[in-house]
Amino acid sequence: MEIKISPSMLASDYANLEAELKKCETAGAELIHLDVMDGHFVPNISIGAPVIKAMKSVCSVPFDVHLMISDPLKYIEAFADAGADIITFHIESESDADKTIDKIIACGCKPAIAVKPGTDVEAVYPYADRLSMALVMTVEPGFGGQSFMADMMPKIEKLRAEYPDLDIQVDGGVNAETIKLCAAAGANVFVAGSAVFKSENPAETILLLKKNAGKL
Ligand code: DX5
Ligand code: ZN
Repeated sequence: MEIKISPSMLASDYANLEAELKKCETAGAELIHLDVMDGHFVPNISIGAPVIKAMKSVCSVPFDVHLMISDPLKYIEAFADAGADIITFHIESESDADKTIDKIIACGCKPAIAVKPGTDVEAVYPYADRLSMALVMTVEPGFGGQSFMADMMPKIEKLRAEYPDLDIQVDGGVNAETIKLCAAAGANVFVAGSAVFKSENPAETILLLKKNAGKL
C-alpha cells in the first residue's frame, strides 16, 4: 500500500494559509486534510467550501476533505465544486450512506467513510467495496491537539485483514511516535495536524512522519 501523509490544516496558521500549504507541497505531502465542522455534529465550527476553494487555487496537492457535519449529503456538491478530491463523511451522520457515496462519485470525487472511536469498524463493511478509503478516528472528532487513542489499533488491524487493498486513514494525535503504531496496525494514510504545524519545521516533520511510517 502506498504511504500517504495528509497534514491537517486545522492546526495551521489561518492568517497565512498559502504559505502553510506551500510548506506541505515542498515537503512532498501526498494529500492536504481539510477539517469541516458544523457546530452540530461536533461542537466546533471550522471552515467551509469558500475557504477550501481559495486554498485550492494556490495548491496542487490533492485535497482530502473530512466532513464532520450532520447532513453531508446536502453539501457534497459544494465541496466538490470547491476542489475536494477525496470526500470523507461520518457513518454516524444523518445522511443515507449509499446516497452520499453515489453523490460523491457523481460529482467526480473519491468517497471515504469515517468512524468515531465508539463505532465498530464493521459499520463500513457494507460500503467498503465502493470506497476509496476508510478513516479510523483515533480521537473524538471536533478538536485538534488531543491525545492519541492507542486502543483503536485493533480496529485498524481488523479492517486491514478484511480489506487488504483499501486505503486506511488514521486521524487524531498522530505524531512521529504514534504513526509507527498506526503503520504496524495496517494504516497507510496518516493525518497529522499539531505534530506538523506546531513543530519548529513542518517540512522536516512531514519527512520524519514519512520515514517513521516506513516510506523513506
Ligand atoms: C479532529 C480532526 C483532525 C485534527 C487532528 O477532529 O478530524 O483532523 O485536525 O489534529 P491532531 O493531529 O492535532 O490530533
Ligand atoms: Zn480530520
